[in-house]
Amino acid sequence: MKETILVTGGTGFIGSHTTVELIQNGYNVVIVDNLSNSNASVVDGIEKITGVRPVFEKVDCCDYAAMENVFEKHKGISGIIHFAASKAVGESVQKPLLYYRNNINSLINLLELMPKHGVKGIIFSSSCTVYGQPSAENLPVTEEAPMQKALSPYGNTKQVNEEIIQDYIHSGAPIKSIILRYFNPIGSHPSALIGELPNGVPMNLIPFVTQTAIGIRKELKIFGNDYNTPDGTCIRDYIDIMDLAKAHVKAMERILNENGTDPVEVFNIGTGKGLSTLQIVEGFEKATGVKLNWHYAPRREGDIEKVWANPHKANTVLGWKASVDIEDTLRSAWKWQQKLRADGIQ
Ligand code: UD1
Repeated sequence: MKETILVTGGTGFIGSHTTVELIQNGYNVVIVDNLSNSNASVVDGIEKITGVRPVFEKVDCCDYAAMENVFEKHKGISGIIHFAASKAVGESVQKPLLYYRNNINSLINLLELMPKHGVKGIIFSSSCTVYGQPSAENLPVTEEAPMQKALSPYGNTKQVNEEIIQDYIHSGAPIKSIILRYFNPIGSHPSALIGELPNGVPMNLIPFVTQTAIGIRKELKIFGNDYNTPDGTCIRDYIDIMDLAKAHVKAMERILNENGTDPVEVFNIGTGKGLSTLQIVEGFEKATGVKLNWHYAPRREGDIEKVWANPHKANTVLGWKASVDIEDTLRSAWKWQQKLRADGIQ
């Protein structure tokens, strides 16, 4: 029998792509999303790609009673993938309580409900932001690198949530967890039926690049060219969204099917390759043939100079490896932006 997975934040960017992969790997999916930063029409895109319509419940994970209803209504949920969270770094500095309330209450509700409803495991969306700027000897960064004080309430919610999971499981709770620390997810499903839909002016690099390419934004600023890197611009580990989605399926298989594994495990999910902002901009131009209007601008406050993953643990223990070529990823992001234009959305 197919197992049922609850995907919180399942209409969001990473949640929707992961739902596609889960369905294509034979799982039933129940999506819970409060639509605070996404649209219910994403469910149509998932159905078009997979031929299966996942269940969708418009529910806020912070609402304990409503979440209890979801578990009552959809009996037999085996695992949870918890994406639902507020994620704008700048906004979190302005509205810290909103971030602490949303991101922490929702996780506590899920953890409390799991044993009550026989849910075996939870995959938690964490971020490489927990490492801050790793020291030179810790690059590429492994899971053993120390966490550093978060630079924003958003980043802090990731750290605190990781600790909440650890503490709860160490207290003897009958559940398992895999914490995935994502590097920089970009791109979209190759069909362009789902993708990233940023709210307002994008803060992240790729949506800003594609919006500049299509003419929504006049120019792209590369924040800082005086960093201690080969070309002076920041370095990140950009990971294709479909590769990232596949990592969740591997993690879920491990939680549900493998005995004797540690009850809490942490994995870096990245390619292992650092690319500079300039390399991404030039790579986009090469991959798409579109010229970008860009120039250098001062550094952005709070930016990390360079971070990229050592994904050895995920490669060997999870049996997962990033495989999509960066130019294909950049083309998929561009195709999605063109689809949004064709649909009159952006
Ligand atoms: C940001 C968050 C991080 C979060 C992640 C989610 C900050 C400081 N960090 O990561 O906590 O987990 O998003 O995806 O906000 N850039 C430009 N011009 C632009 C936009 C970005 O040059 O218009 C550069 C940035 O300076 C950075 C790189 O592109 O060097 C990537 O930026 P971004 O996509 O915002 O991701 P992060 O900053 O790595």
